[in-house]
Parts: sequence; structure tokens; C-alpha cells
Amino acid sequence: MSLVVKILGNDFLDKAPPLYYGGVLANVLGLHVFRTLYLNLWRLKPKKLGGEYQKHLDILEKDGILVLPDFFPKEQFDEIKNEYDEAYSGWSPFDYDPEKLSNRQKDFPEYFETIAEKIVSAKTPAFMKYFVNNEFITKLSEAVTHRTNNLPPHQHFWYLQKRSLEKGNVGNLHTAGFPHADVPYPTVKVFLYLNDVNEDNAAYIFAKGSHKLSLKRLLFEYKLSVSFARTRNDIAHEEDVHDLGYDCESICGKANTLFISNNMGYHNRGDFSNLEPRQTAQLDFRQLETWRNILTRKGSGIFSKVTRRFVKSFDKAIKKERRASISNNNMS
Ligand SMILES: [Fe+2]
Repeated sequence: MSLVVKILGNDFLDKAPPLYYGGVLANVLGLHVFRTLYLNLWRLKPKKLGGEYQKHLDILEKDGILVLPDFFPKEQFDEIKNEYDEAYSGWSPFDYDPEKLSNRQKDFPEYFETIAEKIVSAKTPAFMKYFVNNEFITKLSEAVTHRTNNLPPHQHFWYLQKRSLEKGNVGNLHTAGFPHADVPYPTVKVFLYLNDVNEDNAAYIFAKGSHKLSLKRLLFEYKLSVSFARTRNDIAHEEDVHDLGYDCESICGKANTLFISNNMGYHNRGDFSNLEPRQTAQLDFRQLETWRNILTRKGSGIFSKVTRRFVKSFDKAIKKERRASISNNNMS
């Protein structure tokens, strides 16, 4: 098995196809266009589910985003919010120590000098029961992506807040502040606002309809893929989205507003103009595109048993390799 790990790479099971891939020549020759077409095969539109789900899927098909105010019954929302508050007790957004920035934050030090951010990988009971294992969300994520959730999505609480009004707009100091697609195929992120959020405290921004694969979009993607391969720069602007025929729109909502977003569409983080926090709980269904999810097939058929065993052996081989390299390092 260790030979298989060597050939496929340690991250084989967990990586999803990235936004761009390959060198300059390959992208000039159209690699990104071909892989975008391939990655969208059979899934240009959400799967039909019928019944109570269909009207929501119709909106996701048309807009790429579904916004549902007052999503949870009040008691359930309150339970989630209590768990969220508990997760942040003892932390103050005004404590700033540049030494303590996470690796992700270190890429944008100027942004995080002004914006406090803390992400917690929560597994608290109400959050798990009502949100992470929510049947409605699971079904819609599967219909949009044409995949099956064999593994849970990435899940977290996320807190953002501007620390001071001294500096003006700092949103453009982070690439998340510019319109972008996460990947060139249908992928779902789900947000629950835990406080009231509007344009002043960084409401999520989405260009409705921009999740669709059109010829214009393909040409634009082609341009960005070549630019990215050349200079690692793939920044798009609101005008680009406008030229594609869409408008960037703030998704404002009261606490307990849920939205399901197909992040093949153009979206970005809003900016802060006051000191109100943006408190969210989020799910990211990118795990659906990984081999780990595909091979962790449920069921008792022989094929499922074999693929699940492959995943187990693969993980075992990686663990063994890690142990060996740690003991080598200790000896040297
Ligand atoms: Fe994004």
C-alpha cells in the first residue's frame, strides 16, 4: 500500500479539484476550459427532487442562492446561539497579537490588523443535531452537486469584527473581498446568520445567476486561468461580474437567516463600516468532491466494502509513514 500512497500522494483522498490547475502553456491551450466542461458534465442543473424540496431547488437553479429567513424554530436557534456564545466566551475581538495570527491570516496581515477573526470547528450538540445533520440542507447540497454525502461537511462557527473605525475600507486587503468563484463546478456553502447582518457589518455578497456555465463565463475563466498560471493573480472586480451580465448583491438578513449558496457563482465577503460583529455558523460541502467521500460508500455491497477497505488501508499506510519519519527525525 505504501507504493500506492507514493504514487497517488499523501493528500490523494482529501483534495478536491482546485479552481485553477496546470502551467501557462497548458492553460493557454485551453486546459481550464476543458476541465471546467468535464467537471460540469451531467450537473449543469440541480437534480430534481420533487415534493417540498423542488420549489427551493428551482430558486437555486435560477439564482444560485437560496435565502430563508427565520429558518430554525426559535428554541432551536437559541440553543445554537448559546453554543456559539459559549465557544467565544473568554475571547475578545479587541485582543490583537500579530504573533498569534493563524497561517491563513498571515497571508493578509494588514487586513487582520483591523479585522478580528476567530474560527471554531464546533461539534456542539444543538449545532450538530439541527444544522450539520439537517436533512433539508443535506438533500439540497446533494441535488446541487449531484453527489452523495458519505462524509459530513466541514463545519464551523465564524466570528468577524472590525476593531476600530480609524481606517476606512479594508475589505480589499483580503482576496475574499473580491468577487470570485471557489471552484469551476457546483459546490455548496451554507451560512446561518447568528446576529443581524447588513452592508455595514460585512454581509455576504453574491451575484445571482452567476453560477451558470455560459460561453461568456468560459471565456472569462480562460482569461483568469492564464493570468493565474502566469502571475498567480486571479482577482476579478465587480465590473467584470457586471460585464458577465450579473449584479453583486448584499445578502442582508436578521439573526436566524439561512442561505445556501452555490459557490461556483461569483461571491465575496462584504466590508465593515461599523463595529458590529458578523456572527455566522457555516457548512462547506467541498468534501463531496474528494475521493475519500466517493470511496466511503455506504451500503453492504461488495464494491462498497472494497472501496471502504481501500480508504482504511490508505490511512493506515500514511500513519505508518508518519511514524517512521518521526522516529527517523528523532534519531538524527
Ligand atoms: Fe469564496
